[in-house]
Amino acid sequence: MSRVKLTVNGEAVSREVPDNTLLSEFLREDLRLTGTHVGCDTSQCGACLVHIDGRAVKACTTLAVSLEGVEVTTIEGVANGDELHPMQAAFNTHHGLQCGFCTPGMVMAGIDMVTRYQAMGAPLTEAAIRDELEGNLCRCTGYHNIVKAIEDAAQTMTGMVKAAQ
Ligand code: FES
Ligand code: FES
Repeated sequence: MSRVKLTVNGEAVSREVPDNTLLSEFLREDLRLTGTHVGCDTSQCGACLVHIDGRAVKACTTLAVSLEGVEVTTIEGVANGDELHPMQAAFNTHHGLQCGFCTPGMVMAGIDMVTRYQAMGAPLTEAAIRDELEGNLCRCTGYHNIVKAIEDAAQTMTGMVKAAQ
């Protein structure tokens, strides 16, 4: 057992956990943040994607005790109160989900890729989105609308960054 102190969705968290506890277990079972889904537990499906210090990471292959001092954001932490994150709003507008199981991971992947491409000053093309989604599987195969949603959210998020400059 080890104590880990970190920030999850803006709140300080301190817990004693077995050393082999995965971040996905920690979030779902200790913190009851069940929006982070577990589809494979072998780093293939991307349903467990969260952000650690702003970068997308698969929670099923990350040990909770390795996260001392980091900032974790889960799907529960991306909206601004009642206001959906632009990526969530775009998934809603473009029907970027069917059963919804993969959706939290897709949204977290989408936010991560838009933020990275913005930082690089590179265009996030449809081909780049499809390439970037290699690590996220949708069993319902709704990729077309998922890609459209990410493209749309990228426009909104870029506009927000420009407006803030
Ligand atoms: Fe983590 Fe599938 S549950 S990648
Ligand atoms: Fe069902 Fe993607 S919407 S798995």
